[in-house]
Amino acid sequence: TRRAIYHTLLLSQLPYVNLMLFTPDSELDLLFPSEQIPTEVKAQLPPDLHIRPLASTDYRRGHLPVLSVLTVVTDPGEEAWVAQFESLRAAARTYYSIVIVDKRTDRIVAVGTVFLERKFLRGLGCVGHIEDIAVDKSQQGKKLGLRIIHALTGISENSGCYKTILNCSDHNIPFYQKCGFEKKECEMAKYA
Ligand code: ACO
Repeated sequence: TRRAIYHTLLLSQLPYVNLMLFTPDSELDLLFPSEQIPTEVKAQLPPDLHIRPLASTDYRRGHLPVLSVLTVVTDPGEEAWVAQFESLRAAARTYYSIVIVDKRTDRIVAVGTVFLERKFLRGLGCVGHIEDIAVDKSQQGKKLGLRIIHALTGISENSGCYKTILNCSDHNIPFYQKCGFEKKECEMAKYA
């Protein structure tokens, strides 16, 4: 009976124990200020998930394993990963990489980036390029991809971009249409 009581107590503490793993934004070194992620998108996430800018310690929270659902990822090691993070941050107001973190494990479950291209045409206009959208296999189909895209287009539009564009496979066209995008022109590629 003592064992049963112990287990019941332990289980009742589990959500608390797990939430203690979660690192709040205030304790992180972020790529850009959290306030730039639209509050409507933050409010639409379930309470056990959190959306925020990429942090300098996210190599340890499974950033690369999540990206590997998208394409081949070669692990460069933490030091080189952090150097890449610093080079993105050095290009001010250009790279906006965001992550969704599971608060119960402090692990990343979804990622995405918008990078802002400043032009000479359209009155020194700006275009947002969405890149590298990936949702962990266990979390797909729960609207996390949609939330990431809404957050990135929000950042792009709030930064004054006149359009936000991306390349995708035919298979993903219905997903992007559900996110409010339409098919336009075609993509050309030349691999080195
Ligand atoms: N075909 C048809 N509909 C789809 C597809 C699809 N391939 N994927 C999602 N949808 C629909 C969903 O059913 C949902 O519809 P509903 O609103 O009617 O319920 C809506 O789109 C939103 O879907 P989410 O739940 O937000 O999708 P998810 O969180 O699974 O994210 C994503 C979609 C990003 C494509 C994810 O499945 C994934 O990571 N796939 C592997 C990597 C990948 O292909 N990334 C995109 C590469 S393109 C780029 O990076 C610019």
